[in-house]
Amino acid sequence: MKTILITGGAGFIGSHVVRHFVNKYTGYTILNLDKLTYAGNLENLRDVENKPNYAFIKGDICDAGFIHHLFKERNIDGVIHLAAESHVDRSIANPTDFVITNIIGTVTLLNAARALWKNGFKGKRFYHISTDEVYGSLGESGYFTEHTAYDPRSPYSASKASSDHLVRAYFHTFKMPVVLSNCSNNYGPFQFPEKLIPLCIHNIKTSKPLPIYGKGENVRDWLYVEDHASAIDTIFHHGKIGETYNIGGDNEWQNIRLVRKLCEIMDRKLRREPGTSTKLITFVKDRAGHDLRYAIDASKIKGELGWKTSVSFDEGLERTVDWYLENQQWLRNVTSGDYQHYYEEQYLRR
Ligand code: NAD
Ligand code: DAU
Repeated sequence: MKTILITGGAGFIGSHVVRHFVNKYTGYTILNLDKLTYAGNLENLRDVENKPNYAFIKGDICDAGFIHHLFKERNIDGVIHLAAESHVDRSIANPTDFVITNIIGTVTLLNAARALWKNGFKGKRFYHISTDEVYGSLGESGYFTEHTAYDPRSPYSASKASSDHLVRAYFHTFKMPVVLSNCSNNYGPFQFPEKLIPLCIHNIKTSKPLPIYGKGENVRDWLYVEDHASAIDTIFHHGKIGETYNIGGDNEWQNIRLVRKLCEIMDRKLRREPGTSTKLITFVKDRAGHDLRYAIDASKIKGELGWKTSVSFDEGLERTVDWYLENQQWLRNVTSGDYQHYYEEQYLRR
């Protein structure tokens, strides 16, 4: 029996990771620790909440006393650490929240694991989930490898880079059994509609403008979220201690091309005249410090651990659009309250 602590399990990627582990590893106990910020939602986990190998714990990864107590009480074997402030635009509006959660929160978890695993690290594992954004911005060619020098350029990526450095420092200094991964842009069901794909799906459905930053020329490498969850499973079980693995979809899209593709899919699904939704495209002021291009070289995880993607982009987008259209109540719930305020600040004053 293993007890695995997953942090941020009520968020977008975390909820897919929790579901994957609860359903696949019925012999494990999966503890989902989440503060339930605006981005965390227990509705994301309704289908697993009554499973005997699952428990939810509400708490803050920055609360050292609480985290220490949790490690002491629960005999935790492994940590999969996803909890974070994750949205670049919010980090531009309020960098300090990102420093607190992403840096202090990570070191708080590392300290508790180190203190409570003092009888030996055998069978233990601390897995830190990070992002390709720590590598900075690519020009028109080239890829991020595990050896690319860190060059974070937003408060979000700087805070994630800092947390990555701390995790590696605990490996070198204290021999903590850590493993890390840096992944490209995820998409799929349960993503909060502040991120590009769900925001556009929601705005197309409600015939609102589709805000494209700058000229829409920025490029992202998109991966279906369930493929990220399977990569996390692979790395958690088979990744080498102290190593980092890049995860990506080999699937680069300029923002404007991606949004046009979404418009076509949505017009078809909503039985609207072809071309209706592209009329909603609106170019707005660029994101400050907007990274031009991200692209991951995922040959290490593929070659060494045998991981590969299983969902094509066409299939993943169809599934994602269908999910949002079928889950309008979820969307209404998460876009009520604070979301309206955020939307006004972010877009209506742009
Ligand atoms: P998300 O914003 O959807 O979810 C974050 C979760 O963390 C939420 O449930 C939130 O309530 C929780 N949380 C925030 N602060 C907390 C705290 N102090 N204590 C406990 N819980 C807290 O994020 P996501 O998009 O699912 O990303 C998850 C992780 O994956 C992050 O570490 C992010 O940096 C990384 N990542 C994301 C992407 C992506 O495309 N979304 C890509 C690569 C890496
Ligand atoms: O690369 C991995 C990262 O991907 C993760 O670490 C982050 O947590 C995640 O939020 C995501 O960051 P991005 O900034 O790339 O994602 P976002 O969906 O915010 O934006 C994708 C692209 O679309 C980016 O170039 C900015 C642009 N964009 C975004 C929004 C929200 C727009 O043009 N208009 C918008 O309204």
